[in-house]
Amino acid sequence: MAGRTEVAQPKLSGPKRNLVLGHLPAFAADMLGFLRRCADEHGDIVPLRFGLARAVLFNHPDQIEEVLLTRHQDFVRYRFFWRHVTKIFGNGLLTSTGETWRLQHALMAPAFRADRLAASAEDIVACAEQLSERWQDGAECDVRDQMTRLTLRIAARVLFGLDLDDDADGITRAVDRGIAEVSDRFKRGLFLPDWLPTAGNRRYMAAVRDFDDAAAAILAKRQTPFQPGSDLLSALLQSRDGRGQPIDRRLLRDQIVTLLLAGHETTALALTWTLYLLSRHPEAAARVEDEVDAVLGHELRPGAGHLDRLRYLSCSVNEAMRLYPPVFLIGRENVRDVEIGRRLLPAGTICLLSQWVVHRDPRFWRDPNSFKPERWEAGTDPARPRYAYFPFGGGPRICIGRSFAMIEAVLVLATLFRRFRLVASWPAPPVEPCPSITLRPAGAVRLVVSRRRS
Ligand code: HEM
Repeated sequence: MAGRTEVAQPKLSGPKRNLVLGHLPAFAADMLGFLRRCADEHGDIVPLRFGLARAVLFNHPDQIEEVLLTRHQDFVRYRFFWRHVTKIFGNGLLTSTGETWRLQHALMAPAFRADRLAASAEDIVACAEQLSERWQDGAECDVRDQMTRLTLRIAARVLFGLDLDDDADGITRAVDRGIAEVSDRFKRGLFLPDWLPTAGNRRYMAAVRDFDDAAAAILAKRQTPFQPGSDLLSALLQSRDGRGQPIDRRLLRDQIVTLLLAGHETTALALTWTLYLLSRHPEAAARVEDEVDAVLGHELRPGAGHLDRLRYLSCSVNEAMRLYPPVFLIGRENVRDVEIGRRLLPAGTICLLSQWVVHRDPRFWRDPNSFKPERWEAGTDPARPRYAYFPFGGGPRICIGRSFAMIEAVLVLATLFRRFRLVASWPAPPVEPCPSITLRPAGAVRLVVSRRRS
């Protein structure tokens, strides 16, 4: 079938490649530039090769919709990548499939409904206030570092019903070590078993141990004494399967690590990039401040009841995630032969879908590289294909935490803007994005805190 398919179809053009490693060296050297050049020079369907693995980059929203939604049964998450992280995520929601995923998803989904999340507003705002209370007028702060610590704290409080103060540093260190090694493995393209005592593997195993310890500490804290609460961990601990058995301890560990990781790094980046972009667009920042003041009136703290009216702020977050999508590349692999964009793909092809490319495609976005929160004010443009914007993925495996992330981002920003303005220190060279697993800023994002009201 694979051979027949290739003969029947017109040949697609792809970038020049290394004879042995294919496109891996060019991809690893400059991921964002490589993806952009592929789209600019080779169109919507770009054939690639990573070592021996056949891959395709799809750049049209309709093809992305086919992969993530319409034909989702034909795909799994790209296995080459995910087997590199099995020891970290285990069988958690991100990595599990089939019945395990279905049951766990059904168990967790209610906790992520917007009405249930509204109850977390107070916790979110309290954590943001604790951070801002330490800010001093005129001081410079590293926004990424602060947002990462803040979202970790919020995730622990809202999802696990815990204050993480003592364990936060260990987790942040494990996240950094884990992400650095996984990203190296991904670019290397060569699978080295975890037991080989390479420097990278040792780093990876150290991160795995840190995650194991963090999950064990969270469980111990939450279980002794166990007080049922409205948090997700409480629901997991109380759940029973068809035979009346509680959730397996290993699976519990996997879900805790998955939620901890997926639930804070990405939101921290969405916040960081929004603050960075607003610091470089004072007119947009002024609109945010005016909106926050008008919506909150005499109240000092935002709450769930304000969310709907903080529209420009939420447009700013959408726009920041368009320009700097925290997840900039999604990988899938087809488990059987399938036709996408009228192209037949033999089973086992890696399909790459890039938010970085599509979110800046001039066919779907006017003035695509400019930060313009107002483009979201009129709602979603019906003329634009649905998957021209997919920061949270799509289809059944869409991000389960998307509403939580948006509520959290808007409430954190409203809390901070109510009292402070964050401005770029001068001179302020642009911060470049640095792709690893997520789209982090290259280096610190330093902004100066300026008090608006006490
Ligand atoms: C701005 C913040 C966030 C962004 C941009 C984001 C992005 C994504 C994306 C793109 C996916 C799909 C990946 C794929 O299809 O391969 C995903 C999945 C997931 N996200 Fe998020 N996420 C964010 C926040 C969160 C939060 C706050 C949580 C949890 C509290 C979370 C938990 C998850 C989980 C568990 C999955 C796997 C879902 C499944 O496969 O069923 N995410 N996220």
